[in-house]
Amino acid sequence: MNILIFGATSGIGRTLAKLYVEAGNKVFITGRREEKLNEIKSEAPERYFVFRHDIRNTLKTPDLIKEADKQMVGIDLIIVNAGIGKFNKDLDWEICESVIKTNIFGVTRALTESYNYFYKKGKGHLVNISSVASLVGNGLNPTYNASKAYQANFTESLWMRAKKSKKSNIAVTDIRPGFVDTKLAQGETFWKADVETAAKQIVQAIQKRKRVAYITKRWCLVAWFLKRLPRKILIKFF
Ligand SMILES: NC(=O)c1ccc[n+]([C@@H]2O[C@H](COP(=O)([O-])OP(=O)(O)OC[C@H]3O[C@@H](n4cnc5c(N)ncnc54)[C@H](OP(=O)(O)O)[C@@H]3O)[C@@H](O)[C@H]2O)c1
Repeated sequence: MNILIFGATSGIGRTLAKLYVEAGNKVFITGRREEKLNEIKSEAPERYFVFRHDIRNTLKTPDLIKEADKQMVGIDLIIVNAGIGKFNKDLDWEICESVIKTNIFGVTRALTESYNYFYKKGKGHLVNISSVASLVGNGLNPTYNASKAYQANFTESLWMRAKKSKKSNIAVTDIRPGFVDTKLAQGETFWKADVETAAKQIVQAIQKRKRVAYITKRWCLVAWFLKRLPRKILIKFF
């Protein structure tokens, strides 16, 4: 299988890339840190393809997909994983803006270009990594949670388009991790999964072509409560 992963220089994306390469696939990885891209490529030069790309630079996104298609000779699976999240208790506009530009502006272009690529091809699998955070607001991290709610909603819309399309066979999956031990997950939290466990469960969910998957699986329970608990109780936690 030929796989493109937006944002695979560290954390979940990097671990997913490693698992897919170890399983014999070709993986095209992106990110802003060139030295990380080169370091990863040197681990299996014939299987990794690298492209330095800032997802906020949306004008370049179509070129990147063309390049991945050309270098790997087709793409079967695209995972949009690039994302940032910073605590913002002072409602600092610079933090709001950087999260919006990455998680909304950049991710929307990546998802739409990827969907259109598969639509023209007639098949493919598109995956977005949103978050359990998509289900609830958060006073300390408002733009992050709102951006993930946007992503989950947008991904559901693409899933609807794909389901209704008679002309193409496109699967769309929304992955919603809870806490995973990466540099993005700041501070002490409960149920923080190690990144290998989380990535293995993501691979399984993708294999099953799920519409939505909570990672690790136990976060399904938290999601159930988040959707139902009265906000006056939820406010104690967020
Ligand atoms: N860790 C968690 O607890 C958790 C929970 C729920 C959801 N998630 C989601 O999982 C995804 C991966 O996060 P992670 O936890 O693995 O964090 P991470 O280790 O910080 O990885 C983030 C990845 O995104 C890339 N990225 C960030 N900004 C980018 C940009 N402007 N252009 C291109 N690539 C960019 C980074 O590459 P460069 O820095 O090289 O650009 C890096 O490869 C994110 O979407 C995050 O919201 C994480």
